[in-house]
Amino acid sequence: MVNEQGAAIDKAQPILQLSKISKSFGAVSALTDIDLEIYAGEVVALVGDNGAGKSTLVKILASVHLPTSGTVAFEGREVNLDSPGKALEYGIATVFQDLALCENLDVVANLFLGHEISAWQLDEIAMEVRAWTLLQELAARIPSVREPVASLSGGQRQTVAIARSLLLNPKIVMLDEPTAALGVAQTAEVLNLIERIRARGLGVIIISHNMEDVRAVADRIVVLRLGRNTGIFTPDASNQELVAAITGATENAVSRRVERKSQQNQRGVSP
Ligand SMILES: Nc1ncnc2c1ncn2[C@@H]1O[C@H](COP(=O)(O)OP(=O)(O)OP(=O)(O)O)[C@@H](O)[C@H]1O
Ligand SMILES: [Mg+2]
Repeated sequence: MVNEQGAAIDKAQPILQLSKISKSFGAVSALTDIDLEIYAGEVVALVGDNGAGKSTLVKILASVHLPTSGTVAFEGREVNLDSPGKALEYGIATVFQDLALCENLDVVANLFLGHEISAWQLDEIAMEVRAWTLLQELAARIPSVREPVASLSGGQRQTVAIARSLLLNPKIVMLDEPTAALGVAQTAEVLNLIERIRARGLGVIIISHNMEDVRAVADRIVVLRLGRNTGIFTPDASNQELVAAITGATENAVSRRVERKSQQNQRGVSP
């Protein structure tokens, strides 16, 4: 298989392979024995209730936290994500939920923050050209790259943060709740952006509480509950199955309500 840039995508070997990853914070077990594989050109959604361990897992892969036990292999080789910046060196980029953009700086400055193109001087023209090219490749709707970020919409900010994560040509991009604060049209734009990143042959890990978004964009849905993996689903899984994995019970108020609603819909009764 070949991606949009013509580079070969290895479908046989996962880019990332997590084996028995556990993480404790003192007495709290945030993650227990997580096995997970991420392949090139696929979107994996991490879902689960508050405190399920999603952000902790992303932070381990972003080399923010060290796992208490377990191993991470990158392209078949075991790696130590043991210092800040290690993840980026391996090509694992993260867009954290707060985006960490500088409001008063323009789009170009935000894209290159921390990795200005030439080490000895800021080459404004080269950076502007690179910014435009990247945003165009992503078909991103940014009116001007010289606009301060403060004047952009939530969706445009998310786009800038995602574009910034792509500057160092990563192989994996992790997005923590990229659509949480967005309206319908902006959400659709960010989901389109994720699809274009997948088409470039990257592996994408997305955390979301929104099942509609997850179904729209994910190839696989990985459910965490109390730090354990309680199921891996395809997007055609029923709400009931997903809710059961997320809440840990098939018979609870939420799943009964979902089931009742779908029965009513089948019978043509309005809920
Ligand atoms: N730095 C920390 N110190 C102590 N405990 C932590 C720390 N980070 C996370 N935890 C605990 O680990 C567990 C998992 O938290 P995590 O933030 O990974 O959940 P989450 O799935 O991202 O939840 P949410 O949907 O609310 O963001 C929780 O019990 C949390 O309190
Ligand atoms: Mg979280």
